Amino acid sequence: MTILVTGGAGYIGSHTCVALLDAGYDIVVVDSFSNSFPKSLERAKQITGKEFPVHRTDLLNDTALYEVFRGNKIDAVIHFAGLKAVGESVSDPLRYYENNIVGTLNLLANMQNFGVKQMVFSSSATVYGMQNSMPVKEDTPLFPTSPYGRTKMMLEMIISDMVTANPDWGVASLRYFNPIGAHRSGRIGENPNGIPNNLLPFISQVAVGRRPYLTVNGDDYPTPDGTCIRDYIHVMDLAEGHVHALRYLETAKGIETVNLGTGRGYSVLEVLHAFEKASGVNIPYQIGPRRPGDIPISYADVSKAHTLLGWSAKRDLAEMCMDTWRWQANNPHGYDK
Ligand code: NAD
Ligand code: UD1
Repeated sequence: MTILVTGGAGYIGSHTCVALLDAGYDIVVVDSFSNSFPKSLERAKQITGKEFPVHRTDLLNDTALYEVFRGNKIDAVIHFAGLKAVGESVSDPLRYYENNIVGTLNLLANMQNFGVKQMVFSSSATVYGMQNSMPVKEDTPLFPTSPYGRTKMMLEMIISDMVTANPDWGVASLRYFNPIGAHRSGRIGENPNGIPNNLLPFISQVAVGRRPYLTVNGDDYPTPDGTCIRDYIHVMDLAEGHVHALRYLETAKGIETVNLGTGRGYSVLEVLHAFEKASGVNIPYQIGPRRPGDIPISYADVSKAHTLLGWSAKRDLAEMCMDTWRWQANNPHGYDK
């Protein structure tokens, strides 16, 4: 079975390529490399000892995408390709709506033309926005607070409409919580552009000496230690969740939306201390102001992933931190150098 992986060179995509190849799937990757490097895919090939075609293709280029579908016998699509920086989406919304929405429309049209009926879509916990109670279930009303979050909500709706129009399609829309960690080889990992926005990349860049200290964004939240709580999930658990979703789609039709998280939250300071323990490196930090738009607590109800997909996360926070550290220590400047 051959899976088209859009955005396969990115953080989650490259780890999922490894999980797919390990599970015996053939893959074809499409990526514009707008936020990634071909090196991640070269390393995925080395880790698995398997070859696969890679197309440097932008989903916005409908003609080039058509050629990829024409040249490969594709059975299902995993759709990671998209822009994901929340702040950037606020300052440049049109770029986000064009890239994420139009790119997906082109992909869906090609799927329809070529009779490809199965898709796993990368959605995000960001679609929930501010909620009154935790954990969040999939049927909770959605209140995304950024253009990025709204592209994900709109895409869920668009894809759902496609499934209504094509009842023989099967789609799993996966809402990821906070992916961190790296493949245990330390050869592939998260490679943010510029100053990291997210917690783990920032901590690990402090650990290798690229940044002097971490600023903790507020310690006056209504949580036990005053810092925000998130549901961090190991990127390989997340990658394996996609393999489970594909297996589920072998027999299922229609669309299902599923949270992928661990179901348990950790505070910023808990993560910081877990990272120090895993790496043996002291992480200096200062308490700063709250980050605008941050929600105090976010974690998933993961019961649907378990009952529907037969999947649950296996790796704990210590392993997430150890694997992040191995990747960062071996590749202090990511794929750049
Ligand atoms: P990433 O930026 O590392 O990977 C995305 C990949 O898509 C990159 O390789 C980029 O070059 C490619 N891409 C972007 N636009 C493209 C286009 N028009 N055509 C072809 N390729 C294009 O991001 P990631 O962390 O691996 O995230 C993957 C998906 O998961 C994204 O859709 C993201 O929104 C979603 N997601 C990520 C997180 C997270 O915390 N990392 C959380 C929830 C959801
Ligand atoms: C961010 C995105 C969200 C995305 C999620 C997973 C924002 C507003 N939201 O949210 O859309 O789905 O990542 O990728 O960007 N922190 C610090 N210091 C730092 C960095 C982070 O204290 O230098 C804190 C944050 O304020 C937050 C926690 O660490 O309380 C986690 O932050 P982050 O990794 O950015 O994840 P999210 O806030 O969940």
